[in-house]
Amino acid sequence: MAEGTGQDTPILRLAIAGLGTAGCMMLPAVHKHPHMQLTAAADVDAEPLEHFQRDFQVEIYRRVADLCQSSNVDAIYIATPTHLHTEHALMALEQGKHVVLEKPMALTLDDAERMIQTAERYGVQLVVGHSHSFERPIRAMREIVQSGELGRLRMLHNWYFTDWMYRPRNIGELNTALGGGVTFRQGSHQFDIIRMIGGGLVRSVRAMTGVWDAQRPTEGSHVVYLEFEDGTPATAVYSGYDRFHTAELTFGVGEQGQLANLAAYGRARQGLRALEGDEAEASLKRASAQYGGTRSRQASDPAPHPPFYGLTLASCERGDIRQSADGLTIYGEDDKRDIPLATDETGRDAVVRELYDAVVHHRPPAHSGRWGKANLEVCLAVLESAQKRQEIFLSHQIATHD
Ligand SMILES: NC(=O)c1ccc[n+]([C@@H]2O[C@H](COP(=O)([O-])OP(=O)(O)OC[C@H]3O[C@@H](n4cnc5c(N)ncnc54)[C@H](O)[C@@H]3O)[C@@H](O)[C@H]2O)c1
Repeated sequence: MAEGTGQDTPILRLAIAGLGTAGCMMLPAVHKHPHMQLTAAADVDAEPLEHFQRDFQVEIYRRVADLCQSSNVDAIYIATPTHLHTEHALMALEQGKHVVLEKPMALTLDDAERMIQTAERYGVQLVVGHSHSFERPIRAMREIVQSGELGRLRMLHNWYFTDWMYRPRNIGELNTALGGGVTFRQGSHQFDIIRMIGGGLVRSVRAMTGVWDAQRPTEGSHVVYLEFEDGTPATAVYSGYDRFHTAELTFGVGEQGQLANLAAYGRARQGLRALEGDEAEASLKRASAQYGGTRSRQASDPAPHPPFYGLTLASCERGDIRQSADGLTIYGEDDKRDIPLATDETGRDAVVRELYDAVVHHRPPAHSGRWGKANLEVCLAVLESAQKRQEIFLSHQIATHD
């Protein structure tokens, strides 16, 4: 690490591997952290990489293996496609780099375990994120539930309806074997939220998944019943088929805390009809999502509202909790009250903070490799349950810690 302003504040030098949708979204948080410095990036594609170098004057690499050799990098945020996570994370960890790994962390529990053990062996941190339980509304719900002020948690739901399936995708995103489909890509957020609020220990899962569009043959929907060790039930429902959007139930507020454009009904599906073939679609995704593209998001202004990852509803013995437009609403026995929440820290700001605190202050990350593995176990159990039409029992769950 480079020297900072004091002993407690060394500079952590971060690199980004994969300058696509996720890689670009992390940038504002990296710039915002006072002791984090962006020093390098890697991508197989030259165009976003060169654009990135022009903007930030950092080292650039076409291969993640070469990035991992850089002596100007302490930590790497791995935002390459899911099926490459294990290969890329192992390279980084074995070079003694701390890693923030995008979700889902891997496609098998064995791969997840290999990464966890490698991080332990090399004495480096492994954080899995961004996922939506880093966000303030979910953290605030968890605090209220875990405080016990409303009595025991009795049930928990996260329901989310979006246009995920019809936004421009590359082939891997529509192939379950490569980590595509909503169960791997979006379920990993839902199960993370549910586990974080509910304490982490899911006992079993029963689920059905839906593949409703033969042109896009991967899970586009799921209905999941989860049961915690103490018997608390939870449900996770997702549809990515661009019809009803949950923002209609969440005050019009979307995933980044922005107002969703609900007037443009069916826009994602209609946009795809104008494209001819998989390659045209993948090129459009590259042109829009990669660094420098039309959709690569780098806005750093605070969002007008806290983010909504669909509708999350927690019911305790003496009250229900859900998000309001600007915080939480608690529905108690005799009255309901609002708790405002600030929008000055995004979920990605919290990821960067968690990494920094883990590396510099040795604070064990809440979203550790084992936490990410437990989320992955739920994803895999959902797919298995749907295929076998059976309840699946879990054995790699861990409890939350503060
Ligand atoms: N946390 C979130 O909210 C969030 C949002 C989007 C994506 N993701 C996750 O991030 C990961 C990437 O998804 P995405 O949507 O950003 O994908 P993407 O296709 O937009 O970006 C991936 C980038 O990686 C690059 N790449 C591909 N192979 C590479 C290689 N071998 N070496 C170096 N670079 C390579 C691509 O050129 C591309 O720029 C996935 O695991 C996904 O689940 C998370």
